[in-house]
Amino acid sequence: MDEKDLGSDLAKVLIPEDRLQAKVRELAAQIDADYAGKDLLLVGVLKGAAMVMADLARALHSPARMDWMAVSSYGSGTKSSGVVRILKDLDTDISGRNVLIVEDIIDSGLTLSWLASNLRSRGPASLEICALLRKPEAVRTEIDCRYLGFDIPNEFVVGYGLDYDEKYRNLPFVGTLAPHVYGGTAG
Ligand code: XMP
Ligand code: MG
Repeated sequence: MDEKDLGSDLAKVLIPEDRLQAKVRELAAQIDADYAGKDLLLVGVLKGAAMVMADLARALHSPARMDWMAVSSYGSGTKSSGVVRILKDLDTDISGRNVLIVEDIIDSGLTLSWLASNLRSRGPASLEICALLRKPEAVRTEIDCRYLGFDIPNEFVVGYGLDYDEKYRNLPFVGTLAPHVYGGTAG
């Protein structure tokens, strides 16, 4: 899919493909340096982090393990409540491992703070967070995101893993939706 084929559903391209790819390579270089000589386990959060996880993992020079979790946060509409349910747990015992959570986006931060404390309780050697995107509301949480791609405005974004009603995950860029798609109110 091409940036020129926006169709009428997307309002604009917020982060084009080349900037995403350059940032992911930059994050991978930092991670390579920080984990040199150590075993690394990447934990991707399904489904939104699928794209950033795949590209980040391939951009790393050192071998890493990969595992996945799927969580759903209960809440009304598009707001997360912080009450999180595990839909798919890790296959890996993370005790004693260097774990890096790979997330698509931090909004309120409630999902990630629950996930981090859940994984921390399993006794990893270390636990850090890599998030591709962060919205302004996240400043109110105490999430220590060591590897961050982009701070973005408080708009609903899709593409590069992120969906609206399960659509648009396959776009190679991050864009904002036209108001007619979501009924005019962003979440
Ligand atoms: P919290 O508020 O717990 O929520 O940090 C994070 C999760 O909310 C979803 N989310 C979005 N998904 N476009 C999306 O496709 C967005 O703009 C957006 N904002 C939040 C996402 O699942 C994320 O993991
Ligand atoms: Mg997500």
